[in-house]
Amino acid sequence: MNQQNKPIHGVWASRWVFILAATGSAIGLGNIWKFPYMAGENGGAAFVLVYLVCIALIGVPIMMAEVMLGRRGGMSPINSMGRLARDAGVSQRWKAVGGLGAVAGFFLLSLYTVIAGWALFYIWEMASGALRGAGAEEVTAVYEGLQANVWLVLGCHTVFMAMTMFVVARGVNKGLEVAVRILMPLLFLLLLGLLGYSFTSEGFMPAVHFLFAFDASAFTVKAALLAMGHAFFTLSLGLGAIMAYGAYMPREVTDRKTGKRKPVSIASTVFTIAALDTLVALVAGLVIFPVVFANALEPGEGPRLLFVTLPLAFASIPFGMMLGTVFFVLLTCAAWTSSISLGEPLVAWLVEKGWNRIKAAVVIGGSAWLLGIGTVLSFNYWSEVTFLGRTFFGNLEFLTINIMLPLGGLLIAIFAGWVMKETHARKELAMQSFGLYMVWRAMVRVFAPLAVIAIFIFVALVPDGDDADEAEADVPVVETVVEPTGLPETTDE
Ligand code: TRP
Repeated sequence: MNQQNKPIHGVWASRWVFILAATGSAIGLGNIWKFPYMAGENGGAAFVLVYLVCIALIGVPIMMAEVMLGRRGGMSPINSMGRLARDAGVSQRWKAVGGLGAVAGFFLLSLYTVIAGWALFYIWEMASGALRGAGAEEVTAVYEGLQANVWLVLGCHTVFMAMTMFVVARGVNKGLEVAVRILMPLLFLLLLGLLGYSFTSEGFMPAVHFLFAFDASAFTVKAALLAMGHAFFTLSLGLGAIMAYGAYMPREVTDRKTGKRKPVSIASTVFTIAALDTLVALVAGLVIFPVVFANALEPGEGPRLLFVTLPLAFASIPFGMMLGTVFFVLLTCAAWTSSISLGEPLVAWLVEKGWNRIKAAVVIGGSAWLLGIGTVLSFNYWSEVTFLGRTFFGNLEFLTINIMLPLGGLLIAIFAGWVMKETHARKELAMQSFGLYMVWRAMVRVFAPLAVIAIFIFVALVPDGDDADEAEADVPVVETVVEPTGLPETTDE
């Protein structure tokens, strides 16, 4: 049954389109917003090193497993898991892996579009030249003014969600494929342009030193958990997004030169995606930190690094407003191709239930939009309402990225390594080198699961000071009751 199943949603036109789509999913706020500030907060190179190790040893094998399961299942993650479980003669409860992913994807989508909405606002801020020559106070005031202006943030969140769901509603070939074919080359071009600029900056060498000069004393257990969670997040693993994209991946394509059919290799495809994703994160660091260091600013500013520190730097340099505009357009494109992949698995699942795609996109987008209001409010009315020391946004982010994604990845690795029939896995992966196949198998069966479990245990046993959440980490844990209608003092509407 599994050999011939044709995905009802469509098939990518070529291997390269799959690479573009998966890379588009992988490269996003995680690379450009989160990675630099996490590295900045967690000792630079120490964090970078653990992150790279996690990508190579946990991320790549699990990504191969996800693509393999997706291509074999041929459907949305929930139904693919159902099919694969039937195939392996095990309980349908394995569908829960798809279900867990669907919930995590829904949560992530809701907060992703809020932050991406900030990027939209900053395109405007930069392009209009409003920040030219601005000092620290002004730039901070713009950021805080944005956060306090619930309607503005909500508006940006709405626009971004609409952009996302517009693409998803158009379907795999007319929507997703068209979007990544245009946005990904644009993204690489813009990034290269910015890198060229930062080469000439006096801050370039300090940035290289900051990102790559390893200092073992800066290493902490908390950084390891964050680095692992981030490896899953940045590669879009653990929730079925890559599984869904894998379902649209062809098994064979026609070779342009020889005209013959040839198999599409999962291994080399995944290597390419992971390498591009990592490269973009590092280049983003090499674009952002030179500007920060050349202006003697702090690298450890947390989430504000991109929205306060960087604009401050752009405000004072020649062509700063133009560079800043390019930068935030880049961020928006990157976030757009990622948020699409957060929506697709759920929409595909509803379509398999017989829903019309447009209706499915509107319902999923609408409900995630509604949940996103919690994130919007976390930065103003609810900024003091904390649970376990984190805001609504902080908790949702921590739960999905640091718990649900690694857990989903763990279950996917166990399924691919222990539950499904070995012959099926081997056939679907169709790796030419048996040695490399055995390496992969050892990784998904033993190493990756143990690594994820070990990090979970460590973190449970070694409470390590402040929690993951940056912005609100210092807010004391108090049961604050905020009147829903009470205006925060910072509001300037
Ligand atoms: N990888 C994206 C980023 O780095 C975020 C993302 C998109 C994602 N789709 C995902 C994360 C699926 C986990 C799972 O910004």
